[in-house]
Amino acid sequence: MTPQPDNPADDLPAWLASPALASLRGVRALVTGGAGFIGSHIAHALERLGASVVVLDDLSGGYEANLPPGADFVRSSILDEGALRSAVRGCGVVFHEAALVSVPQSVSEPERCSQVNMVGTQRVLTAATEEGVRRVVFAASAAAYGNNPSLPSREDHVPDCWSPYAASKVAGELMLQSQARCTSLSTVSLRYFNIFGPRQDPASPYAAVISAFIRMLLSGRGPTVMGDGLQTRDFTYIDNVVSANLLAAASPRPFAGEVMNIGTGVRTSLLDVLARMGEALGVDATPTFAPPRAGDVRHSVADISRARDLIGYEPVVDFAEGIRRTLAWARASPAFDSTGMRGSAA
Ligand SMILES: NC(=O)c1ccc[n+]([C@@H]2O[C@H](COP(=O)([O-])OP(=O)(O)OC[C@H]3O[C@@H](n4cnc5c(N)ncnc54)[C@H](O)[C@@H]3O)[C@@H](O)[C@H]2O)c1
Repeated sequence: MTPQPDNPADDLPAWLASPALASLRGVRALVTGGAGFIGSHIAHALERLGASVVVLDDLSGGYEANLPPGADFVRSSILDEGALRSAVRGCGVVFHEAALVSVPQSVSEPERCSQVNMVGTQRVLTAATEEGVRRVVFAASAAAYGNNPSLPSREDHVPDCWSPYAASKVAGELMLQSQARCTSLSTVSLRYFNIFGPRQDPASPYAAVISAFIRMLLSGRGPTVMGDGLQTRDFTYIDNVVSANLLAAASPRPFAGEVMNIGTGVRTSLLDVLARMGEALGVDATPTFAPPRAGDVRHSVADISRARDLIGYEPVVDFAEGIRRTLAWARASPAFDSTGMRGSAA
């Protein structure tokens, strides 16, 4: 996999200039959770493609500064049916990213998790159906695989949920499937594997491991690894998940709740991540080790053949290039100041 060259004609990267995405030009699209990390990248890409973008986000975890300049912004919860209905009106496609995303919070507040991730998802589906949306694309999660030892993870593996968060994401997939079977709405669920990239919030107490490592290294503190560091993940650069979302939305296939893994199919250990970052930054990235986190999965990697077959998905940016771009962003971002504390919105 090599990074694709930019298309000089219109300054879009080749994957975004793909003819497979042409049907999204001029479409009105709602991104729930569009002020967050992944949703904001989807919103920016849609705007660059020439779609008209609406973002609905309650800013519980996102930042208005993340929004693309031309987006219509509705500051509201997906649980507010009136606001949701008017945001959906006139849209051809909905990218449903809004969620309670913290696994620990889902354990301490399981009802809140169900409310946002299950009731909220049903409200998005109902509003989309009643407003005549063509397709909803849902942010599902590799958390569905839990500790299933069969690797790489395939969509036909039985779910193994270890948190209310994981259960709520699997429930969301089932809701998308049943809604498509009962109504005219077309739906697709994308199971994301460890996504990383610019705008991922390093200040969150639940910061994903890559942004947490960057924060430790840029602040001059030695990194801490929970466990022995030999655990592996399918670290997936943000452009890959954006590309998958757009391909799923644009596909002419009549989807009805199909579930697809979105990763790279490559596993990388935490020690490898640190070594690569240390090299790129020219700093000593030797970690200290802390006890493993309870419930952490040992290895995770996606089988991406279903997404390849159904939507023509291929990773467009590999891990090494993704780390390079993420470090370049972090060095220039006020989100990482010299003390590693958040300065302002990324
Ligand atoms: N980051 C990953 O590696 C990963 C992996 C698997 C799945 N996902 C899923 O992808 C989606 C996006 O995750 P992210 O990493 O960008 O997280 P994020 O926290 O950056 O984005 C989530 C956004 O949803 C908004 N939100 C939360 N509750 C809301 C509500 N009730 N109404 C409206 N907006 C609300 C937040 O303000 C935030 O902007 C989530 O559904 C998450 O479960 C992410």
